[in-house]
Order: sequence, then C-alpha cells, then structure tokens
Amino acid sequence: MQRTLPAVAYRDPAVFGRERTAVFAASWQFLGHESEMPAAGDYLAGDVAGWPVLAVRGGDGVLRGFHNVCRHRAGPLVSDAKGNCGGELTCRYHGWRYALDGRLRSAVAFGASEGFDPRDFGLHPVRLETWRGFVFINIDGEAGPLCELVAPLDRLMDERGVTLGPATLRRSHDLACNWKAYVENYLEGYHIDVVHPALAAEVDTASYVVRMDGAVAVHEVPTHSGVNDGLWAWLWPNLAFNVYRYGLMVEHMQPIGHDRTRLDYLYFYDPATADMDAVLAASDALTHEDKVICEAVQRNLDAGVYDWGVLSPRHEIAVGWFQQRVSEAAG
Ligand code: FES
Ligand SMILES: [Fe+2]
Repeated sequence: MQRTLPAVAYRDPAVFGRERTAVFAASWQFLGHESEMPAAGDYLAGDVAGWPVLAVRGGDGVLRGFHNVCRHRAGPLVSDAKGNCGGELTCRYHGWRYALDGRLRSAVAFGASEGFDPRDFGLHPVRLETWRGFVFINIDGEAGPLCELVAPLDRLMDERGVTLGPATLRRSHDLACNWKAYVENYLEGYHIDVVHPALAAEVDTASYVVRMDGAVAVHEVPTHSGVNDGLWAWLWPNLAFNVYRYGLMVEHMQPIGHDRTRLDYLYFYDPATADMDAVLAASDALTHEDKVICEAVQRNLDAGVYDWGVLSPRHEIAVGWFQQRVSEAAG
C-alpha cells in the first residue's frame, strides 16, 4: 500500500519555503519559446516560485538568463512578461543601465564612492538552455543537462510527429490550491469519468494508462473523436505538453505562494488552419472542471480531518512517483 503525502504538505508555508529552493530553484523551469523573442533586446520574464527571472537576446543573438533584480537596491529591470528593452536593461527604480550580457554599464549619476567597482555589480546570471526552441532556466545552476530531462519527451514527439505552429496565444487561470494538488490531478486519468464527462465520451477511459519514462509522465489514451489527440505529457516538476489535433499547448503550473497556483497556457497553432474556437472551448471546460475539484480538495486538506490516504497501483503510478520525488527533495 502506498500512502499519499500528508495533508500538511499542501497547507504549510514552511513546506513551500523548502520547495522554492529544493524543487523550483533546482529544476528546469519553462519561460517561453524562442520565436517570441527573435530580435536583440527582446525579453521574456517570469516569476518562478517567487524568483523573478528574465531571458534576453543579446546583440550577438545569444539568449541569456538573469535574475530580474538590480544590484543597487533590488529594483526590477523589466516589469512586463514580454517585450523589447532596447540595447540595454535599465533598472526601473534609479535607472542603472546593464548591457545585454549583464555587465553594469552605468550606475547613472551615482557619484564617487570609494571601493565601488561597477565590474563587481553585474546582474546575477541564471543558467539557460533551449530544447526545440523552448526556453528553460535553472536558478541554482545544478540541474542535469536539459536534453537529458526532456529526452523521453523528445522521442515521443518524434514518434508522434508533433510539429509546432507559431506561438499564438497566452492565457492564464488562477486556482486556490497548492501547486501539488493540481499537478497530481494532472498526473492521473482516474478522475476523468467523474470530473470530465465530455472528455470521458471522447477517450477510452478503460484503457487509460499513465506511465513514467524518466521524469516524464506519459498519458496513453486512445481518442475516438474531438479536438484532443490523446497525447498529454508532463515534465518534472510542473510543466505539461498537451497535444491537440490542431497543435500544441504548453501548460506551466506555477505556484503563487503555498495556497495559490496559476496555470499559464501557451498555445502553438497556425491560426489559418486551426479551429481555435473549438480548442479553447474544450480547454476552458476541462480547466474549469479541474479547478473546481482541486479547490474543493484543497479546502478539505485545510479542514483538518484528512491526514493521509492511499494511491491506486493501477491509476496513480505517476502521482506516487511525483510525491516520492517531492519528499526526497523537500520532505
Ligand atoms: S534599484 Fe536599480 S538603480 Fe536603484
Ligand atoms: Fe482533469
């Protein structure tokens, strides 16, 4: 019998404090796609479990990652999720100017200060790697190579002939639950018959399997009809690739503190050929059903009567894998 994580893991801010470092700073975190930042000075910024980060394309064409935190008094360099900063990153507090490779170019009008050497005050770098144009950063710099993490997914995309349309649309959904409650919901198809009646009519839930391949959870499910392709894959710790007949949606499950989660969806479609209305309607309906159940579960985890439960060996293999990995990292 495999026990679940204890309820306290979903409601204690101190647990989330440990996860910020041991899970999120230690893993590869998705920022977006290279095609969203083609020109010098183009940037993507994000908040990785409370770590503000950005990726910017230099004049040499190279993408670099930095903490979005000025070395003067911690002001932000950019305040939008996406944009172009021109030839340099200018702090939005007192205007210090940084080159696109992170060097402090000018501590504007700072005045003479003995012992202050601008060369010591470049932006804190963040490790950055890309795969199929997807941009990932790793805050603590200690994660294994991105290509090793994504290898099972890369093979799967080749096998299934998944191609990327252009990155056309970003959408977000806010959930009042701990990030793990939502990730675990994503990692099993056990709830589909009860929670998603419309999807249950599209897929063969009796033969639904979720298997682990490295740190990738692969949902194997034949579909009869509809907009879903039956290929959903999750990547440790909080990213998923949802393949539709018309294209792909990348789903980033971002913690906003210990009790809030934001789902950031990035859709890759060719608007000329994709039936976006059908895709978005199906996606919104599914997300709403998952939001309602995950928020209800969170309220029950908070209530106090539930301490731990058990995982199905048939349906919840990936949930068990995830919980084990989280406990090893931050337990
Ligand atoms: S905090 Fe950046 S210039 Fe002052
Ligand atoms: Fe669901």
